[in-house]
Amino acid sequence: MNHSEIRGKAIPEGFEPAIWCAKLGTPLYVYDADEMAKQVAAFKAAFSVEDLHIHYACKALTNINVLRLMKKWGTGLDTVSIEEIKIGLLAGFKPNDIMFTPNMVGFEEIAEAVEMGVRINIDNLPFLLRFGQVFPETQVCVRLNPHILAGGNINISVGHTHSKFGISFEQIGDIKSILSKTGLKVEGLHIHIGSDVKDAESFVKVADMLFDIAVQFPDLAFLDLGGGFKINYKPEDKKADINELGRLLSASFNQFCQKYGRTISLIFEPGKYLVSEAGYFFTQVNVVKQTPYVLFAGVDSGFNHLIRPMFYDAYHHITNCSNPDGALLAYDIVGNICETDTFAKQRELPEIKEGDILCFHNAGAYGYTMASNYNSRPRPAEALFMDGGLHLIRRKETLEDILQTQVELEFLK
Ligand code: LLP
Repeated sequence: MNHSEIRGKAIPEGFEPAIWCAKLGTPLYVYDADEMAKQVAAFKAAFSVEDLHIHYACKALTNINVLRLMKKWGTGLDTVSIEEIKIGLLAGFKPNDIMFTPNMVGFEEIAEAVEMGVRINIDNLPFLLRFGQVFPETQVCVRLNPHILAGGNINISVGHTHSKFGISFEQIGDIKSILSKTGLKVEGLHIHIGSDVKDAESFVKVADMLFDIAVQFPDLAFLDLGGGFKINYKPEDKKADINELGRLLSASFNQFCQKYGRTISLIFEPGKYLVSEAGYFFTQVNVVKQTPYVLFAGVDSGFNHLIRPMFYDAYHHITNCSNPDGALLAYDIVGNICETDTFAKQRELPEIKEGDILCFHNAGAYGYTMASNYNSRPRPAEALFMDGGLHLIRRKETLEDILQTQVELEFLK
């Protein structure tokens, strides 16, 4: 890595971390609307198929304002809980543009989603049968598991033989016998193999496997190839080449449609690809601590606000906004949680002083949405940078917010 890479990708033009953090406080999540719009447009432009749909995987970042932007930019939604569906409907998405892909939820939740008119994607045989019995002669999407290991980390690889997701490719016969018993019609087949998948070959291989199976289902309206497109976490990382992927997949999908005898829709469900790089997480340095062994910089946040480094051993690029040109020193960047919450080990950064603002890059996806109240700390504020201005889109939580759901027993008072 050269020095400019160590200093990190530039903070985008118009960003004023010092002013923003002074005004809204730290820690603070900021999302750049232009960057998200750019990614949506790049994704669309990469494919040349007649009927392409992008269903934004909103588990990555569910702020309702971001959902409204996605809607404005023409995406649908991929949802995994009844709550995500409800936020999507509130944001103005039409039920038909929302896909519900739950895993191990109760059947009541699926029935509630049917009531709301969203598309249902079922990923296990017992519920497919039950769905057919409760809603006979209706349409359903089926999530398949192709038994392929792909993804940046075993915890985010979900298409392998031992994954809890999807109906095994080896159980197609069982699916068909449920269809003939219940009159259910399969309107879509779905596969999602994992997150941080960088090689086009994995997607192409899975797509080809899906096309082979899809010809056996005569009522298809769409095929859904999921999300998982890798973005650059490290400056030297290779992100998924969306143009290459678009070229390869469009060609094989168009060929499939010819073989199938009619044109159907192609759906993708990117989360990270659309929002990760648009997100910046600003923290302030509380303490710089030199021990005989390690130089620590401790920030006013922890894995309660950004858990990816600790949970997935994920790399997040860090820049020192307050002293970008300082002399480089190696720091362990740690949080203020009473656990070993290390954001980065021995990371070279321009000299850090107490009060400096550190920025964690690529914090748009699975940052805020995976935050918690551990150590009884409030979750931070979120803001949207759009048209040259910064807009608060979620206030910082308070102690009252945290206490709100607790029930105080009178006899213990
Ligand atoms: N579709 C389905 C069915 C999914 O389960 C997911 C993500 C996506 C689409 C979107 O995947 P993406 O394009 O964002 O990679 N918390 C982890 C990632 C977990 C992904 C869960 N499912 C992380 O921070 O890396």
